[in-house]
Amino acid sequence: MAAGKIIVCDDEKEILRYLKKILQSSGFSVDTYAEGQTLLDRMEADSAYTADLLVQDIHMASMNGIEILKHVRGLRPELPVVIMTAFGSIDSAVETIKLGAYDYITKPFPKEKLLGVLERALERETLLKENRRLKDELIRNTAPGEIIFVSKKYQAVYDMTLQVAGSEANILIQGESGTGKELIARAVHFNSPRRDQRYLTINCAALSDTLLESQLFGHLRGAFTGATANQKGLLEAADGGTLFLDEIGDMTLPLQAKLLRVIQEREFIPVGSTAAMRTDIRIVAATNKDLAREVRAGRFREDLYYRLNVITIHPPPLRERKEDVEPLARHFLEKFARKMKKQVDTITGDAMQVLTEYHWPGNIRELENIIERAIILARDNRITSELLPISRSDIMPTTLNGDGKDSLESVERNHIIWILKKTGYHKSRTAEILGVTRKTLDRKIVDYSLCIPKGNLEAG
Ligand SMILES: Nc1ncnc2c1ncn2[C@@H]1O[C@H](COP(=O)(O)OP(=O)(O)OP(=O)(O)O)[C@@H](O)[C@H]1O
Ligand SMILES: [Mg+2]
Repeated sequence: MAAGKIIVCDDEKEILRYLKKILQSSGFSVDTYAEGQTLLDRMEADSAYTADLLVQDIHMASMNGIEILKHVRGLRPELPVVIMTAFGSIDSAVETIKLGAYDYITKPFPKEKLLGVLERALERETLLKENRRLKDELIRNTAPGEIIFVSKKYQAVYDMTLQVAGSEANILIQGESGTGKELIARAVHFNSPRRDQRYLTINCAALSDTLLESQLFGHLRGAFTGATANQKGLLEAADGGTLFLDEIGDMTLPLQAKLLRVIQEREFIPVGSTAAMRTDIRIVAATNKDLAREVRAGRFREDLYYRLNVITIHPPPLRERKEDVEPLARHFLEKFARKMKKQVDTITGDAMQVLTEYHWPGNIRELENIIERAIILARDNRITSELLPISRSDIMPTTLNGDGKDSLESVERNHIIWILKKTGYHKSRTAEILGVTRKTLDRKIVDYSLCIPKGNLEAG
């Protein structure tokens, strides 16, 4: 019989000694308790204290065995229990089975009979454990995208993500474009107690105000032109689960007010309705804007900011964790080569050097795009530096001198000017290279007061 640890609880000292002896001689380690309460105290005081099996007497002088069993089940739901009962008390034995005991054995019993019951209980426990492990693995594999990193900087962000996932707090993810905000949002949901419920997402920048409102809140038939039927909103559909509000910084002030109400009151009113509906959702929001600055500029409600910002996660830009470039590049190489069924499996040292030195304004999305493109262009199994749309002259010196010229903003501003010049001020191509939307680029051009020479603008 495989060894393991067994706890025995019985108020007859003779029986305790006898069981300890036969179980130890079968290779088990044994803890004995003459009082149920002592066992419960120990379990309560030390959450790691457990065993592979508990063998428990049902008739004890100090505390009813059924009561002990109930408490044990509460404290250690996964600990299998075998009950010992005196001959003639089948009723209470049956009750223990209903309470989740694995089996019972009637005293007096021969040693072989006890060992047989214990063996079956342990076998079943092993199976259950294996099932739980497989199920956990399934959740890990199918749910969030694979998150690749080796840097300490990202490790800290990842640890924090897992740590806060278990709470009910709303979470704000603030980071540059392409730093993996969406991936983190998924990781929050799929590591939270809500993981079996829905995870729904909406991009606040992609929709007009009215459309966004009706998507979120739902609407009644006839609420506006074109509303030909009642439609459930995401707030209702995500009830019990998580709602990911991407690009929250682009939400207009009137909608922000409505969202605040949802968070505060946990209720909302569908468009065209007068009746409020209740909803229980956890909100994870993301933005690449500096929301505190948006608040100061009067573009974002301060009260909503504080509601969303209970916990903020800052995925760092790729240029601040260059160790991650290589593993990420290899990850994308494998992913796209498999997808395109192309035999490309090598990134030359030269190409890797360019990738590592480049400062990645479009972050991981830009790296992903560049690798995908290189695989398409590759003529053999290698990605060489010629296949990368980055030339040596694109690699800007990244010395830091702390005089403000190297602030994130000035680096970003300079880089946008750089790419605009390279593309002959072609905005769509610039946006593509930077890995941002055209809308984002236009906004940055205004924010940074960049001059675009006339006659160089492509249509649209
Ligand atoms: N650590 C990572 N490991 C593997 N892939 C990653 C990682 N981080 C990001 N990615 C991938 O990079 C791409 C961009 O990530 P994501 O969409 O999450 O970024 P984002 O921060 O939401 O960007 P945006 O602000 O532009 O919406 C996605 O394809 C994502 O799967
Ligand atoms: Mg995103």
